[in-house]
Amino acid sequence: MNEQKWKNKIYYSQCWEDPYVLLEGLEINKEDKIISITSGGCNTLTLLLKDPKEIIALDINSAQNYLLELKISAIKHLSYDNLLAFLGIESCDNRINLYSLLKNDLSKDSQEWWDNNTKLIAQGVIHVGKLERYFRVFSRFILPLIHSKKTVQFLFTQKTQEQQYEFYNKKWNTWRWRFLFSIFFSKKLTSNNGRNKQLFKYVSTNNITDHYLIKIKNSICIEPAKNFFLHYMFTGKYDKSNLPLYLRKENVPIIRERINRIQIVSEDIATYIKKNPKKYTKYNLSNIFETLSVEETHVIFKDIIEASGYNARLVYINHLVDRTFYEELNNIIVHDIKNEDLLNKQNMAFFYKKIHIDYIK
Ligand SMILES: C[S@@+](CC[C@H](N)C(=O)[O-])C[C@H]1O[C@@H](n2cnc3c(N)ncnc32)[C@H](O)[C@@H]1O
Repeated sequence: MNEQKWKNKIYYSQCWEDPYVLLEGLEINKEDKIISITSGGCNTLTLLLKDPKEIIALDINSAQNYLLELKISAIKHLSYDNLLAFLGIESCDNRINLYSLLKNDLSKDSQEWWDNNTKLIAQGVIHVGKLERYFRVFSRFILPLIHSKKTVQFLFTQKTQEQQYEFYNKKWNTWRWRFLFSIFFSKKLTSNNGRNKQLFKYVSTNNITDHYLIKIKNSICIEPAKNFFLHYMFTGKYDKSNLPLYLRKENVPIIRERINRIQIVSEDIATYIKKNPKKYTKYNLSNIFETLSVEETHVIFKDIIEASGYNARLVYINHLVDRTFYEELNNIIVHDIKNEDLLNKQNMAFFYKKIHIDYIK
């Protein structure tokens, strides 16, 4: 349906969707067969922590799947310390040598792609997506024009919520912050340099930064020390004591043991679901509907209902564009409003208008 919208390059080398929200929203059990949009691969790996039967990691863009293959091979074959070094959490001048231990486990296409892109491996693959590069420019060159290193570090120290609000109001929320943030994350600059332009096709407003400024205020004021998205965005790296879930020391062996339950498919979701009328039970759909019209979105919902069993659950996001199913499906699929409200409040990935949690009756 929309293959031409995504080029064969890495747009996301990490997932920018909150894994806690996904784990809670999907309510995964041992019988679940999940379709999970690959993107940076992190959240598909994280889903294994809940012990599902099978995961189809699906992405229309093969490069995103090549990245997941590489992350899988690294989890399978490297020690924990080497895994963190290889991916880019720790510095490392040995990544190409480590790659030689991993490449034989990749599919032919993936191996060929990475052989042609070893410079990305040398940089640490979690840093090489279009969005991660854009965030790096922000943390290296823009944020230092707004706040000192000390102020940024202070943001992530433990404080009461009251102290955090006070810090935001008195220290952080300066005119420079609002001005430079609004320029850097404007629709024009972000769609040209940070994300895929197609994601903005249905965004009707030119001012997207008022929305981001309100959302990021919440993330700055509510437990920023726990927010690894915010930490990466502001510092260009992770705090090792607060890594994304799939990279935590206690979680890696569990993921490693279950990793063969992931099957990787490079295809548009609409095509895949039609060709595989198997009963899937859970869907991690990211914000794939953002590039689609309301009608196209509705057709995918109908196909998903066809391909699913009762009680199937879906988590998907509206970033800047409102997308969900038509009312005519209300007697089959419903919004889990109670969970939605709770999880939207908890959500650490602050960019989004709304996270939807739906289930099929
Ligand atoms: C939709 S993007 C969004 C990522 C992030 N949340 C954001 O707002 O920028 C996530 C992934 O979905 C994939 N994708 C988009 N449309 C798809 C489709 N119809 N079928 C399968 N994958 C799709 C993209 O290739 C990308 O890797």
